[in-house]
Amino acid sequence: MRRVFFAIWPPLAVSNALAELASDAAPRCGGRQMRRETLHLTLAFIGNVEQDRIRDLEGAADSLSAKACELVLDEMAYWPRHRIVWCGTKHPPMELMSLAEQLGRALDDRGFKTDKRPFAVHVTVLRNARCRDDGWGDPTPIVWPIREFVLVESNLKPEGASYTILRGWPLAAG
Ligand code: 2AM
Repeated sequence: MRRVFFAIWPPLAVSNALAELASDAAPRCGGRQMRRETLHLTLAFIGNVEQDRIRDLEGAADSLSAKACELVLDEMAYWPRHRIVWCGTKHPPMELMSLAEQLGRALDDRGFKTDKRPFAVHVTVLRNARCRDDGWGDPTPIVWPIREFVLVESNLKPEGASYTILRGWPLAAG
């Protein structure tokens, strides 16, 4: 069995900026900062699959016609239920929402069980956090050019998950 998910992986400048926001939030929230190289935006979490189903996941990704876009991360918030601090956007790009929607449908068609809740654009930067408040104001916007999406394998370890990118799919120029 392999534990996998689809995601968008940030370029170095974006993950550096996100890691900095995590460091800023940590003093008031505690918790565990995501290591810079693990920061990502999940498109669809699949979970454990048999090796021979990886081909079907690739087929789902191959079937999409999605476009490149720019994501501006301009908000940061705390979800007490999940105890995470995350960065997101007040202006979700239509192309990104369409990508997540198409992917969800393609996975459904192939019998994968995915989250039925609407796609929420968020990058988790702190886990196991307990924020005294989340009134930190909006962060300086981080501009993230989104040019591909990836299939990722997650290996759970006591010190936090490590991730391996299995394959990427380019997005058509807007
Ligand atoms: P999160 O950051 O909001 O926790 C890899 O685990 C990625 O998949 C994480 O970014 C995580 O989102 C997301 N994810 C979504 N559903 C999940 C689930 N049921 N179990 C673990 N991770 C999940």
